[in-house]
Amino acid sequence: MRDKLQEIKATALDELSKAVNLDQLESLRIKYFGKKGELTQVLRGMGKLSPEERPLIGQLANQIRDQIEEQLQVKRQDLEKVVQTKRLEEERIDITLPGRDFNLGTRHPLYQILDEIIDIFRGLGFSVVEGPEIELDYYNFEALNLPKDHPARDMQDSFYITEEVLLRTHTSPVQIRTMERKNSQLPIRIIAPGKVYRRDDDATHSPMFHQVEGLLVDKHVTFGDLKGTLLTFARQIFGQDRKIRLRPSYFPFTEPSAEVDVSCINCGGSGCRVCSHTGWLEILGSGLVHPRVLEMAGYDPEEVSGFAFGMGVERITMLKYGIDDLRLLFDNDLRFLQQF
Ligand code: DAH
Repeated sequence: MRDKLQEIKATALDELSKAVNLDQLESLRIKYFGKKGELTQVLRGMGKLSPEERPLIGQLANQIRDQIEEQLQVKRQDLEKVVQTKRLEEERIDITLPGRDFNLGTRHPLYQILDEIIDIFRGLGFSVVEGPEIELDYYNFEALNLPKDHPARDMQDSFYITEEVLLRTHTSPVQIRTMERKNSQLPIRIIAPGKVYRRDDDATHSPMFHQVEGLLVDKHVTFGDLKGTLLTFARQIFGQDRKIRLRPSYFPFTEPSAEVDVSCINCGGSGCRVCSHTGWLEILGSGLVHPRVLEMAGYDPEEVSGFAFGMGVERITMLKYGIDDLRLLFDNDLRFLQQF
């Protein structure tokens, strides 16, 4: 038995030293240590030995097993290293190759301006809220003091889904949704940016465009507050020497109402082609929230007042960048977009 063990040890170590890959090594492991392995067989036969011989042979067998196992371990590490080195060599990266170019996009000019508008009003203490683009007739018109047969509905030719559901024609319905949600609490100081839809399509009108609505409701809100807010806005977005002008106007949801012009950003007010020689550019509609609108949304017009405004983001973008055809903003022509 002793000779048998020594013989196993000698061949095992010899075979191990000759193994050239991990598969061969695994076969050797099975050959000696597997269920029917040579060493396993010998160890199993120990039961037949005499009680005197058993501990001696046992010790030797354990020693030999440990030696073979250790050798197996060492060899495995060697072979694994070989495999890894080979892989690293094959995967070598040529750092002298010229870098691969990739195109980094830019933010759409419209959304650059929208971000600017949002930043300005955030700085003035307004928070940003959003409303649905598919809107109820009630919020889009009725609650804004535009009942079903009101002629002012004609100014906003709409896409109807059913008689009561449409694509919102302006962001003003978010005023109502916000007031309802606030549940008569004060103050309200929000802007609501988003997409709006109208049946319009030419060089200055698109069936889908963007607006930013503003609403402030509190005690003692005056027209002066509105004017100061809009002047601050106009100067931050168009430059510190801008002036604004408020012209009386009409919107069913404000009383009084005003259209707001900014002194021409091209000529400064002396008159040029951009401002049609008037010195002024119209930028938004505004006014004090109509008492009936406050009332319908759950506020007492005897107690509170508010101002509101709505501006077109496309228009402001076109003015700021001197773009003369609105459709350029939506054509997706990279030669145009890459300029911003
Ligand atoms: N919703 C109006 C429009 O789309 C713009 C507007 C005018 C909004 C006056 C207002 C406002 O909040 O007070 O034509």
